[in-house]
Amino acid sequence: MIASLLCLGILKPVDALVSPDGTGRLPAMGWNSWNEYACDISEDVFVRVADLMVDLGLKDLGYQYVNIDDCWGVKGTTRDNVTQRIIPNPVKFPGGIRHVADEMHARGLKLGIYGDAGTQTCGGYPGSLGYEEVDAAAWSEWGVDYLKYDNCNIPQEWVDVPYMYPDNGGSPDGDVPPGYDWSASNSSARYNRMRDALLTQNRTIQYSLCIWGHANVAAWGNATGHSWRMYSDIYPAWAGARQGSQALMPILNQAAFYWNVSGFWGRNDWDMLEVGNGDLTLEENRSHFALWAALKSPLIIGTKLDAIRPEILAVLKAGEIIAFNQDPVYGAGAVPYRWDRVGNDTHPADYWAGSSSRGVHAFLLNTEEEERDTELVFAEIPGLQEQQPAVRPGPYLVHDMWTGEDIGVFSDSVVLRVKRHDTAAVRVTTADGQHPSPQWLLR
Ligand code: GAL
Repeated sequence: MIASLLCLGILKPVDALVSPDGTGRLPAMGWNSWNEYACDISEDVFVRVADLMVDLGLKDLGYQYVNIDDCWGVKGTTRDNVTQRIIPNPVKFPGGIRHVADEMHARGLKLGIYGDAGTQTCGGYPGSLGYEEVDAAAWSEWGVDYLKYDNCNIPQEWVDVPYMYPDNGGSPDGDVPPGYDWSASNSSARYNRMRDALLTQNRTIQYSLCIWGHANVAAWGNATGHSWRMYSDIYPAWAGARQGSQALMPILNQAAFYWNVSGFWGRNDWDMLEVGNGDLTLEENRSHFALWAALKSPLIIGTKLDAIRPEILAVLKAGEIIAFNQDPVYGAGAVPYRWDRVGNDTHPADYWAGSSSRGVHAFLLNTEEEERDTELVFAEIPGLQEQQPAVRPGPYLVHDMWTGEDIGVFSDSVVLRVKRHDTAAVRVTTADGQHPSPQWLLR
């Protein structure tokens, strides 16, 4: 299984969905209601969040989308008799969705909404299958800027062959004939219908596929949307699984086999951030944020911003970590380059490296239960190896991306002390500050 997944790791989808004004070129940054509010949402929640995103300085760091998740309609399949449009819940959204969009735009932010490529959403609200044009037109007219499109309640005639990957382990090719083309699947068709409906609107709407890694979306998602969910729902715990949801470490383990899929205009989505939620420790919150950023996953905050703890806000505002995620020149995510164990849901790949305009970066995760010394060995990083074109020899300057301070200049390696479940995030340059390997991961 690992061999076939590692093969997938070198898969790079072509024909990316390229949208006007750079929309979707870089991972989306914003906030979404689901992880902390679930269905308990209202206009007030989003307007308050928007104010806080401005006041807390999150907007200035690039967080711009404020996304309504499930439960904004009227339960069932209720649509307006005349227009066929989904009716926003009049109690939760008395001014309609357009009013919320206006409030976001007045603050220089953008509004996201949620839909479903089936008959009903996961929460039992109207789905958009068969209503793609109607719904895309409504969202566009209301001023929506982002769509998260879910995958619940698929009618029988649209279901693909029984296909449970990745929920059941196995492999993406497990249940289909050899050479099966998943881009020709019913799943792909359902998501392409909404893409096409969005593209006919006179509005640019970022398109986020929420398909949980099904139908081998890594192989075709880039032509369909700007990001695609790769795995089950996240929940705020370090390791383990709960009612079909996955904690941080199992998700990272899955991500380690798909490291080479993400790039400009399209990327794996490892689900919205749980930073600040549950009883994650500060170090676990730091690891979650740093690694999701390193993977080039969208950075969608999922915690309440009212009375957010300062140390949690500081994690979400870690500027050098965000800059890696949002780098305008190097679109690829970080590469797992050393694994203490392989394919382990509690101890996933722990040594990751990537490239940005400012240098080579390493993210060293401690999955153990105690603080430990971790050795960053320059020669182990693929981009710093001699056969790499244009690699500049050491000694190298190592810089701490969390504190913004230089650690020192080292010839071969440096030992970093990493707390339990924490992640050291460093930038490596030549001693005089040049990129040590400017061609690595440049594509
Ligand atoms: C799930 C989705 C979650 C959330 C939820 C709403 O399918 O993965 O992120 O949107 O539906 O019902």
